[in-house]
Amino acid sequence: MAMKTVVALPGEGIGIEVVDATCELLMGTGLPLKILTPPQGAPLPEETKQAAREADGVLFGAAGPATSPVVSWLRWEMSAWAGIRPIRFYPGMRSPLAEPEGIDYILLRENSEGIYPGREGQLADIVRLMPDLSDRTGRTLKEYGTEGRFAVKVVTPRGAERIARFAADLARKRKARGKPGKVTCVTKSNVMRQTDGLFQEIAERVVREAGGLEFEHFHVDDAARRLVRFPRSMDVVLCMNLYGDILSDLGAETAGGLGLAPSANFGDDGWAYFESVHGSAPDIAGRGIANPTATILSAALMLEHMGLGADAQRLEAAVGRIYRDGKTLTPDQGGTATTRAMAQAVLAAYRNA
Ligand code: NAI
Ligand code: MG
Repeated sequence: MAMKTVVALPGEGIGIEVVDATCELLMGTGLPLKILTPPQGAPLPEETKQAAREADGVLFGAAGPATSPVVSWLRWEMSAWAGIRPIRFYPGMRSPLAEPEGIDYILLRENSEGIYPGREGQLADIVRLMPDLSDRTGRTLKEYGTEGRFAVKVVTPRGAERIARFAADLARKRKARGKPGKVTCVTKSNVMRQTDGLFQEIAERVVREAGGLEFEHFHVDDAARRLVRFPRSMDVVLCMNLYGDILSDLGAETAGGLGLAPSANFGDDGWAYFESVHGSAPDIAGRGIANPTATILSAALMLEHMGLGADAQRLEAAVGRIYRDGKTLTPDQGGTATTRAMAQAVLAAYRNA
């Protein structure tokens, strides 16, 4: 089998610990992988960008204050606009819900538009340009005075359409595997009628035109409640950028915790990078107790992307076995294992499969 190149970028804090443990696991699998760890730094060095552009897979840990340029380059400059965030309960995970069995959906986050990344400025500047811009009650911008700041939310038909297509494709693939074939769109279109309204309208049209799929829409506040109360009824949950950021932490927690949620981020022409949903967790960094599951499952998504689908499934099954056994879990899951010990236990389960 041809050698695949992986670029591993740890970020900082627990990002380093979970990426180290996951790379050690990957090397132990015997898969034909060459793992490169080019320098990070701010700004991200050109040689690192080059390596990440050319790699078969990019595995990222977590950014913190010192390494935010890494994620900013991966997500925004490389325009990885589709964020796939699987929310799945494996028996043995410490879910706070009474009946978590069967939670298995994809939260799809639009990664490139909406209110992120911040486009902000001084209120005085926008008041000067658009003094009479008014809200639905008729209150104009100039009535706020000039002290303060503003942020700009952007939604384009192109951005909404490509993510809606992505959602429909995902739902169709999942339907072929026995899932409901449903896209749940999340916006706040009752308040943000123009921006969120456009997103909702395009999402509905695209999903309906795709055919054979169910479409539903909830406002983000209602959606938050539904993800807690009816998580098993979800299939593909299509979220605008900010809402997806918030709801993916919520979804992760319903399955058992933030340390469990992986992601795959796709840009144009099939380029993708893979990372945990969580951040650098300064509160537990340096102690070797971070849960590596989110990064291991991100690595599984990366293997699938690199054409190693059977190995990806085997790795996911190995994770499932570790939770069922319950003997080698990190403290967030009620165990006493270290990050490395847990990753090595997953490797042992992988080898014995
Ligand atoms: P966080 O996700 O780092 O941590 C939130 C809470 O979850 C903490 O109590 C932490 O200990 C716990 N946690 C997270 N991952 C865990 C794991 N693998 N195992 C066990 N417990 C885990 O969010 P926070 O504290 O808001 O942000 C810290 C830094 O991370 C900030 O600088 C933030 O900007 C950055 N961040 C980066 C992200 C990324 O790189 N994609 C995503 C979210 C935050
Ligand atoms: Mg987040």
